[in-house]
Amino acid sequence: MLIRDTITEDLPSILAIHNDAIATTTAIWDETEVGLDERITWFDGRLRAGFPVLTAVVDGSIAGYASYGQWRPKSGYRLTVEHSVYVDKAFHRRGIASALLAELIARARTAGIHAMIAGIESGNTTSVALHDKFGFVTVGQLPEVGVKFDRWLDLTLMQLSL
Ligand SMILES: CC(C)(COP(=O)(O)OP(=O)(O)OC[C@H]1O[C@@H](n2cnc3c(N)ncnc32)[C@H](O)[C@@H]1OP(=O)(O)O)[C@@H](O)C(=O)NCCC(=O)NCCS
Repeated sequence: MLIRDTITEDLPSILAIHNDAIATTTAIWDETEVGLDERITWFDGRLRAGFPVLTAVVDGSIAGYASYGQWRPKSGYRLTVEHSVYVDKAFHRRGIASALLAELIARARTAGIHAMIAGIESGNTTSVALHDKFGFVTVGQLPEVGVKFDRWLDLTLMQLSL
């Protein structure tokens, strides 16, 4: 497995992972799949802001990606980021999210980031376990702040102070 910086050529594969998460999971609280143009705009924005976008490659296939951006837009939040990690279902449970998150944390430390926040749908026990493994602690539980698939979604906020 190789974890490296994302290149533009990775974006169609990243789009497929992203749209599958929209269509079939409550990990992303969007309900409409996006086009490649949206992922290009997202990628360019992250790079322009100096934020990392990482790709996991397994045997030449793109297996997952991870990134972070400023948690909230006001300047006082500039040392706090919110990240996301997504792995293609075909590659789950092979340590790929762990490798991506480890590298993302290392990048955040190097960049002088002070806090990392994960916003996790409370029923996503896999993601909670992943973050727990890296020392994130639950700092917030927000009941019924989202809707998807005709039901309320609760949000768990987990934080790692660097
Ligand atoms: C959450 C997700 C990123 C985990 O990816 P992964 O590559 O399968 O995770 P890893 O193999 O690195 O496992 C990391 C830890 O997560 C937990 N975990 C992973 N799969 C699990 C499962 N099926 N059941 C319970 N815990 C699980 C374990 O604690 C595991 O550590 P361990 O293997 O040392 O026990 C992946 O399931 C995914 O992409 N889900 C959809 C998107 C999503 O939920 N992203 C996070 C949004 S906040």
